[in-house]
Amino acid sequence: MNIRLALIPGDGIGPDIVSEAVRVLDRVAEKYGHSVRYERLTAGGAAIDETGAPLPEKTLRTAEECDAVLLGAVGGPKWDNVPSELRPEKALLGLRGGLGLFCNLRPALLYPQLASACPLRSELVEGGLDLMVVRELTGGIYFGAKERTEDRASDVMSYTKEEIRRIAIKAFEIARKRSCRLTSVDKANILETSRLWRATVNEVAASYPDVEVSHLYVDNAAMQLVRNPRQFDVILTENMFGDILSDEASMITGSIGMLPSASLRSDSFGMYEPIHGSAPDIAGQDKANPLATILSVSMMLRYSFSLAQEADEIEKAVGLTLDQGWRTADIFTQGTRLCGTKAMGQAVAGNIRD
Ligand code: IPM
Ligand code: MG
Repeated sequence: MNIRLALIPGDGIGPDIVSEAVRVLDRVAEKYGHSVRYERLTAGGAAIDETGAPLPEKTLRTAEECDAVLLGAVGGPKWDNVPSELRPEKALLGLRGGLGLFCNLRPALLYPQLASACPLRSELVEGGLDLMVVRELTGGIYFGAKERTEDRASDVMSYTKEEIRRIAIKAFEIARKRSCRLTSVDKANILETSRLWRATVNEVAASYPDVEVSHLYVDNAAMQLVRNPRQFDVILTENMFGDILSDEASMITGSIGMLPSASLRSDSFGMYEPIHGSAPDIAGQDKANPLATILSVSMMLRYSFSLAQEADEIEKAVGLTLDQGWRTADIFTQGTRLCGTKAMGQAVAGNIRD
């Protein structure tokens, strides 16, 4: 397969971790006879420094022409005081909105090798933890009208039925490939958008009689996630609730440096990135954990290119690397082998054998 991939390393540790993901992708491509052509693009703080804007027109246009996007991370204290429409985060929203990536998949997986990093009592996660947050990504309060005067501000939260329907279908399809359990999270006791959300999810559910559906209010869901996370499999929710719950879900796995994400639309195009941020304090020091970005490459092969065997191969190599004891500082525990960003990438690539 010939793949044209947009690479947006971004800020902070972004370039460090993206280099290692490229190393692993090149190794898999070599083994399976694929060719990958990279388009290096700037976004976020790096783009502000270079062009004055967080998302240059060329970045969006070129990304659109590629088959998929691999992004490191954007943002950092250097750009904290720029006007809101120039913040690095605007690049992310611009890419999501501009590319129409309405479906955000955020798996929260507890790696058995890292189980001791889980902050919950071990009996709560006995037997493992593997859930998938499906977050609506281009609607709701993030994209509604915003107003600000001296002493009043508002952010509009709005959803159309079609926006809810298409994300619900994605979530039901995913639930079907997993354990056929789906929890839709809303605030239907208060919000009109949530009442439409719940009614629409129930309509879609009628076409998936094999999937068991439940509805939870978001406050209760936040509580249940730490009380008994194993009750969940697929969590379907709107943009802002998904932002909050996916951070919570990632923390209970204890391995925020390990978790990838995919942002998809209805065709095969997607943007893939680690869920962690740009960690400017350790940028360029060969300290960051590249595994979340490497696993994002695996999601890309699976979701954008239907290369399941190649995706499995990367996941297996990551598992093997952890079995061998390699740990970056964020996941290091006594008795394991501390390593840097590069050594970790090399270990994973080396575990993809002929
Ligand atoms: C995320 C981040 C972004 C969001 C920010 C950086 C705009 O928190 O991807 O979860 O709120 O969506
Ligand atoms: Mg977030």
